[in-house]
Amino acid sequence: MATVTTIAKLGEHVGETVTLRGWLYNSRSSGKLLFLVVRDGTGLCQCVLEKSEATAAAFEAARHLGQESSLHVTGTVRADPRSPGGHELAATDVHVVQNASGYPITPKAHGIDFLMKNRHLWFRSQRQWAILRVRHTIVEGIREYFNRNGFILIDTPIFAPAAGEGAQTLFAVDYFGEPVYLAQTGQLYVEAACMAHGKVYCFGPTFRAEKSKTRRHLTEFWMVEPEIAYADLDDVCALAEDLVCYLVQKTLRERRPELELLGRDLAKLEAVQKPFYRITYSQAAEILHSERVRQLLTDDLARAAARVVELKKLMEEKEQERTAPGVKEWKADKLAHELLEARDELADQEEAVRNIPKHMELAANFQWGGDLGGSDETIIARLHDRPVFVTHYPRGCKAFYMKRNAADPRVVNNLDLLAPEGYGEIIGGSQREDDLEMLLERMREEGLKEEDYAWYLDLRRYGTVPHGGFGLGVERTVAWICGLKHIRETIPFARMMGRIYP
Ligand code: 4AD
Ligand code: MG
Repeated sequence: MATVTTIAKLGEHVGETVTLRGWLYNSRSSGKLLFLVVRDGTGLCQCVLEKSEATAAAFEAARHLGQESSLHVTGTVRADPRSPGGHELAATDVHVVQNASGYPITPKAHGIDFLMKNRHLWFRSQRQWAILRVRHTIVEGIREYFNRNGFILIDTPIFAPAAGEGAQTLFAVDYFGEPVYLAQTGQLYVEAACMAHGKVYCFGPTFRAEKSKTRRHLTEFWMVEPEIAYADLDDVCALAEDLVCYLVQKTLRERRPELELLGRDLAKLEAVQKPFYRITYSQAAEILHSERVRQLLTDDLARAAARVVELKKLMEEKEQERTAPGVKEWKADKLAHELLEARDELADQEEAVRNIPKHMELAANFQWGGDLGGSDETIIARLHDRPVFVTHYPRGCKAFYMKRNAADPRVVNNLDLLAPEGYGEIIGGSQREDDLEMLLERMREEGLKEEDYAWYLDLRRYGTVPHGGFGLGVERTVAWICGLKHIRETIPFARMMGRIYP
């Protein structure tokens, strides 16, 4: 019996005979040779089966296997620097567990709707496999970071009796006849816990009834929320900066092959070093009104418009080539794939042509007092090569619990961290209002009922101290680190408006 091992561990078995247990990713044959690319969850390995008297039965069994058939392959491990994982298996035996036929996700191109509906199978594709491994490492990094730095984990409830963030995005649930809400944040509860433990965090799923379909919004997403006692805005920023650097460096160290597979520009991630930029909301408003931004967007628009023309021409040419008489099947498939990719890019570029003028108008007419929109954040982030903190927003556009600034009472001591390359907000946080009277005033302004928050107000009655914290969204962080356009691929099963299957 050969040793059973995994593709990731083949390096420990060079020259030995081993068995891999996995699935058939793809295969091709050339005369007496059969090339089976097998995946087993830890990687991909090419297994080469040569037809001989000894292998005739295995050769026959393996020759007609469909994509994603499950199988064991036994063979001798050879180091081969050209192979995906650096090793190859000179196969001597194949045992078929199940011969699968008609696997829906073929090497041909598929549209995103189809892939999302087949998410349970799409997992097995290389890019999706890489993304969820990066997510795993980021989640592990978050836990590691807080556990090693003296934070106590506090699991906060998912059934929440009152709003923690804006009332517009609450999901109501019937709780034995009482309306309660799915938690938008664990923050109010970690504030209570930090008065007991000093440094705490919660980490779990949060829910927002986001009625817009954007690249950045899910209705169910994961957020980690640290909260520290005896802390001001600077302390909170320092913590956010340190955590983000830790996560980027850990991912670069441990998931380089996955990032490379995703085509991520690693230099951009390597540039994520302290100190991050810091600007105030008022400075951000000035930037949005600047000539530099007008020029940036004018150039973007010209570039997108030119690309639309280029793509349309390219697609016409490819379509002609694809449907030309006598074109080989493999060639037609390849062209179909390229056409689908071009069509995706065309949709993106056409969207840009439609949106950029709107973004220009929003930036130029930005009024002090309003929240920064997604496009505004993208602009600010693009003008910086490292993450940038935007602090001190007008209090009217932020949550009731944020600490009023002592020098300028129009603004609060809050922060949003914008990721570079236009990714926008990945962290939102603040120092908290620790003064009972001011907090009550803000709650009245927001129309919040005092009795709903009685326990929270107690924290300001019994030993109140300056404190603060933030929330980091896991999916937005994964999208940024992986360099993905859309957040939907960063979570195993995405929940968005209009999407709840599978
Ligand atoms: O800025 P937000 O709303 O902050 C809070 O919830 C605070 N209570 C956190 C705190 O201070 N303890 O959300 C924090 C982060 C955002 O920066 C973003 O990364 C993510 O959560 N986020 C979302 N991610 C995906 N889809 C959505 N709909 C999101 N809404 C927020
Ligand atoms: Mg926010």
